[in-house]
Amino acid sequence: MLNWSEKFETGNAVIDSQHRMFISYVNRLEELSRSRNPVKEEVELFFRFMDFLEDYMAIHFAEEENCMLHHQCGAYKENLIAHNEFLDFFKVFKHQIEIEGYRLESVRELYDACVAWIQRHILRLDVQLKPCRTPYDEPGELANEVQSGSDAITFLEYFANQAGPRPRVD
Ligand SMILES: [Fe+2]
Repeated sequence: MLNWSEKFETGNAVIDSQHRMFISYVNRLEELSRSRNPVKEEVELFFRFMDFLEDYMAIHFAEEENCMLHHQCGAYKENLIAHNEFLDFFKVFKHQIEIEGYRLESVRELYDACVAWIQRHILRLDVQLKPCRTPYDEPGELANEVQSGSDAITFLEYFANQAGPRPRVD
């Protein structure tokens, strides 16, 4: 299980809270991979969870890219490329599981890949947001960001919204 650590902090309240959620969602993959005899419902849940994760990453990545652009962070371009590459990897992996069928080994493999990527990515690129700004010195701005961060979707909201319009991403 991947644990949140202070070394992952970017200094941006919204991005940090989305990273925490992202890590907790990825940890669910690890839980799923430990279910020795998955029942039909668990397999269905897994595939819906994959769709959710893909959407969650797209929403979070876009928000983080906007944040870097807004603060003229030097890591913006590299971050954008890394996000797109990981989203491509995830889509290919998801498609492969859909074709091959549900296997615990695949879930574990995906979990390991996500954990490795998240750690490397946050520590190398996302934390470069930190010196770009001092949000905790600007309480008004921080409050606005936390407010807008409440729009980030959760797993349950996602399912609740599936029959209707797509979750809000702004
Ligand atoms: Fe990033």
